[in-house]
Amino acid sequence: MAPRPVRRRVAVVGTGAIVTGSHLSALAAHADRVELVAAVDVDPARLDAFRAQAPGGVAGYASTGAMLDAVRPDLVLVGTPPSLHREQTVAALKAGAWVLCEKPLCLSLAEYDDIAAAEEASGAYASVIFQHRYGSGAAHARALIAGGDLGAPLVAHCQTTWHRDAAYYAVPWRGRWTTEGGGPTVGHGIHQYDLLLHLLGPWAEIRAMASRLVHDTESEDVSTALVRFENGALATVVNSVLSPDEMSRIRVDCVDATVELTHLYGHRNDDWTYTPARHVSPERAAAWGAPDADVPSSHTAQLGAVLDAWDAGARPPGSGPEARATLEFAAALYKAAFTGRPVRAGEITPGDPFHSSMHGDHPDWAPRGRA
Ligand SMILES: NC(=O)c1ccc[n+]([C@@H]2O[C@H](COP(=O)([O-])OP(=O)(O)OC[C@H]3O[C@@H](n4cnc5c(N)ncnc54)[C@H](O)[C@@H]3O)[C@@H](O)[C@H]2O)c1
Repeated sequence: MAPRPVRRRVAVVGTGAIVTGSHLSALAAHADRVELVAAVDVDPARLDAFRAQAPGGVAGYASTGAMLDAVRPDLVLVGTPPSLHREQTVAALKAGAWVLCEKPLCLSLAEYDDIAAAEEASGAYASVIFQHRYGSGAAHARALIAGGDLGAPLVAHCQTTWHRDAAYYAVPWRGRWTTEGGGPTVGHGIHQYDLLLHLLGPWAEIRAMASRLVHDTESEDVSTALVRFENGALATVVNSVLSPDEMSRIRVDCVDATVELTHLYGHRNDDWTYTPARHVSPERAAAWGAPDADVPSSHTAQLGAVLDAWDAGARPPGSGPEARATLEFAAALYKAAFTGRPVRAGEITPGDPFHSSMHGDHPDWAPRGRA
């Protein structure tokens, strides 16, 4: 008989939209491996509503420190506004807990360094939520591309064309450099280009533009970028919250096939298409097949992957260098947009203003508006 999996004690920090909407169902789906024991929120009404909705007796706390001292959880799920992620993640790591933190993991590469140091000191790990890496369709595409089955990747497009209205930006922490870290580049499109990086590997150079065309925000509400990958592939990236016809899309043209993902906030196998080049035989194209299972991209899938790594004694996916790479891409896109010059991978190091904040620490920096 297979041994029963270890059941980890879990606490959530922040009981707002994403924790109630996605983390709670992920915890329920893995109820044989996790037990929700505590929740933290500074808003008593939200905390009470969450505790009423959560199964079992979940203890409530008004501060992360008090919860960590009293509960000593194994795993902390962080779903607060982005400016709190570094501090709460570091506190949880120091208390010996693993962390699964909402995107963006933190506001800058400098903040990432603090998290990496806390990981190193504690031996625990912090992963960032990018749930779209974890569906079966993404795993299949990555395996085919990495295995060379589709030929070398040549040209890619990565579009996050979403729509957010003024009411969305009325929430005080949104669209501000010090609280959200930026606009759709770091808040929305980051899901899609995280998946692009997962599919294509390291990037080498980026050129970009950002603008604020509609919203009353500090940050941009649209950005575009041109990217050269280490493998030579070229890509375009669009991060928009101004697009009435909403879509999330990644398309990669390889020598022997185009692979395309079209979805909005989550994908299944059917959202991926493979179009063989004319020179590819039907037998070869048929061998690309489809995944055996149809696992939607979701918090459930990512939580499962983290628990699998834990059980195997391995660093969890979405932590360490993987988490840093996506944050570095965001910082480089902003630096390229704000300085008007190409940015190379690895050039943003301590001392560079774009290392300590996404807007290069310019207190009055504002993206160019409509001409
Ligand atoms: N992965 C995704 O698809 C996805 C989708 C939406 C949001 N998010 C991310 O989730 C995070 C939260 O977003 P949201 O839309 O749920 O926000 P939200 O405002 O609905 O929820 C945030 C919660 O944090 C609480 N909070 C604030 N300060 C706190 C503190 N010091 N300690 C404990 N709790 C505190 C608030 O009271 C609120 O209940 C953000 O980082 C966002 O980018 C991710």
